Amino acid sequence: MLSGTQDYQQMQTMMSSMIDAVLICDIQGRIIMANKAAENLFLVREGGLVGKRLNELGYESEIANMVGEVLERGNEVFIETIVNPSPQVYRVHVSAIKNEFNIIDGAIAVFHDVTDARNFAQMRSEFVGNVSHELRTPLTSIKGFVETLLDGAMENSTICRRFLSIIDSETDRLSRLIEDLLTLSAIESKERIVRPQPVCLVRSIRGVMNILGPQISEKSLHVEYVYPDELSLILADEDLLGQVLINLLDNAIKYTPPGGNIMVRSRKKDSRVITTITDTGVGIPPESLPRVFERFYRVDKARSRNQGGTGLGLSIVKHIVESHGGEVFVESEVGQGSTFGVSFLAV
Ligand SMILES: Nc1ncnc2c1ncn2[C@@H]1O[C@H](COP(=O)(O)OP(=O)(O)O)[C@@H](O)[C@H]1O
Ligand SMILES: [Mg+2]
Repeated sequence: MLSGTQDYQQMQTMMSSMIDAVLICDIQGRIIMANKAAENLFLVREGGLVGKRLNELGYESEIANMVGEVLERGNEVFIETIVNPSPQVYRVHVSAIKNEFNIIDGAIAVFHDVTDARNFAQMRSEFVGNVSHELRTPLTSIKGFVETLLDGAMENSTICRRFLSIIDSETDRLSRLIEDLLTLSAIESKERIVRPQPVCLVRSIRGVMNILGPQISEKSLHVEYVYPDELSLILADEDLLGQVLINLLDNAIKYTPPGGNIMVRSRKKDSRVITTITDTGVGIPPESLPRVFERFYRVDKARSRNQGGTGLGLSIVKHIVESHGGEVFVESEVGQGSTFGVSFLAV
């Protein structure tokens, strides 16, 4: 196999330009050729693989067995495996190399990195699972109340009214959930094109405070907005910015007990304008802080549900802000309150 020097050199050049790791073994299972990608994968220096057997590499007995089988039977084998010490998942393909008399001469193993595809598939199936669960919960409750009403509860007008109003708020929650899912998917799929333009942040924040005015006064919250006189305009897509501010302020209102304070601050820092929303609410435990921007993550599921939350608000905030080249952050202490912050580019 590969007797001529010229063949060998051509083969090496070809292999070195490949992204996939490639190993070629002789009939004894000894490596006779390996490309750069393979050396990186097995963490050996240049030329460090040639002359070795796969099982001498210490940790690849599964692949060594595959090569052994192929050398014996001349077949082709595929497996998907994690090649230690890297955490990557590889699809490994081993096939026999035969000479002109159709006699097995060696084997070739190709390692193709499929980590991204696997992670993506897993994320997608988790997401579908979460969405189904979130949709099922209000539906189950609606179904339950409708059945109870049909079973006779509707004869009592007080009970009937109470159940119908629960059904009403559960359907509202279903619509909000679908609305949030559509927003998220539109931003993620880039179907909603982000068009940043100079925007007056102060005006946007005042607008959102007006929209949420009824909830603020219902809970007797004290809301204040502090900003410097000469605050720069920011570069943002105005509708999306509004969505960010609504989601953050809505949380501050929902998770702060009546009579509490909400302080909104904007200031310029280098080329950015940072806005923080600080409340005197229930706070978030330290172990939950890194997760609050994940889809469907809630610290207290029951509390979020009672408040009509979908668990998607903060993931939408993060997506929108990052699609503008900005950042999100959070600090909190249980029982003291929380501060959520977002940054946008100043004009
Ligand atoms: N200001 C806040 N104070 C306390 N907890 C908060 C605050 N904002 C968000 N959280 C926590 O983060 C979770 C996720 O927020 P979000 O994505 O807006 O979902 P939702 O409000 O629909 O539950 C909330 O369920 C809540 O546990
Ligand atoms: Mg929310």
